[in-house]
Amino acid sequence: MSEMKRIAVIGAGTMGAGIAISASVSGFNVIVIDMTEAALESALSRIRRYLDRQTEKQKMSGTEAAATLDRCRFSTKMDSAADSDLVIEAVFEDLAVKRSVFGKLESSVGLETQLATNTSALKVSDIGAGLIRPERLCGLHYFSPAEVNPVVEVVRTDATADATIDAVLSFLGACGKQSIECLDRSGFALNRFFCPYTNEAARCYDDGLGTPAQIDEVARDVFGVAIGPFAVMNIVKPRINLAAVRNLTPLGSFYAPARSLETTGDADDDWDLTGDARIDVTTRTRIGDRLKGAIFLSVLEELTEQVAAPKDIDMGARRAFTFAKGPVEMMREEGAAKVKRLVCLVQPDWVGSVSV
Ligand SMILES: NC(=O)c1ccc[n+]([C@@H]2O[C@H](COP(=O)([O-])OP(=O)(O)OC[C@H]3O[C@@H](n4cnc5c(N)ncnc54)[C@H](O)[C@@H]3O)[C@@H](O)[C@H]2O)c1
Repeated sequence: MSEMKRIAVIGAGTMGAGIAISASVSGFNVIVIDMTEAALESALSRIRRYLDRQTEKQKMSGTEAAATLDRCRFSTKMDSAADSDLVIEAVFEDLAVKRSVFGKLESSVGLETQLATNTSALKVSDIGAGLIRPERLCGLHYFSPAEVNPVVEVVRTDATADATIDAVLSFLGACGKQSIECLDRSGFALNRFFCPYTNEAARCYDDGLGTPAQIDEVARDVFGVAIGPFAVMNIVKPRINLAAVRNLTPLGSFYAPARSLETTGDADDDWDLTGDARIDVTTRTRIGDRLKGAIFLSVLEELTEQVAAPKDIDMGARRAFTFAKGPVEMMREEGAAKVKRLVCLVQPDWVGSVSV
């Protein structure tokens, strides 16, 4: 629905400010809504800093930057979203808070307004459970930083209407984002395998196979990623990573958080990445095989559940997480027999089949 013009972003924090930048730079009029003036001021500063950097790097002219800023409005009143074509909610990760926001929104926005939540771990259908018209709600899961990361998961619940999906896909296309359509399952399409990958890295550490620096080095080598899983966890923050891993525990015992991941996450301590990253060839292979096994197992499961399409999972791995190759492509290269062997390293009683 390319006639979308006005976007409301509820919550002016880390994600809301990034989403506002992405939409306003792409020509949409954006109203950013938060409870406090302080949060709005901080979002405005972040938008200004982003635009200053773009003009310094000559990626944007001063006139374009001024026009982008002019397209952004700020408010502490929820009813300022009333005339929006799409509302993207990015408030605290709390079901009651999100439900209350959508309850207020539903009574103020027009019937044609589409609604989206940026939740990472809650079920989109639970957030929409109290809505009179849940068919216009979907998940729009941006990755941080939302103004930079090119990938957004579009989450469809059992109630979401095709028209809502079409409208948000068109909006994301206009913002230059690559969409991954997926079902409303724990971890959606990408955290479903990325969390087990960080978790398996911590299990390798718990088993004494290597230090975080060594395991990160193996991951860089095996997957071609810019930074390894422990460095990613330090950026995301171990506490938030642990919450994302715990979100997958209903999927089975394989997804249970590693011992050190719980300790580090509960204390919100950074992983110690210092020390010599060199490691002998045999141990390097053992760690690499286990990391692959964890990714392959979770991707095979999500493919069986039809959470997302194989090509989208691969695209997301490459573009959101900087993998050199997607997991499905890697499995095709390894061949069914080897994939099965690697999966059985992390789940010895695995009885699934490899058909990729
Ligand atoms: N931070 C990430 O890396 C990341 C990535 C993907 C998705 N998410 C999800 O995005 C959402 C926001 O996360 P964040 O990291 O931006 O949080 P944040 O704490 O940085 O910002 C949340 C903002 O929401 C505002 N807020 C809270 N309740 C509100 C209400 N009732 N009305 C209006 N504003 C309200 C707060 O004042 C705050 O400014 C969460 O659901 C989170 O799970 C976060």
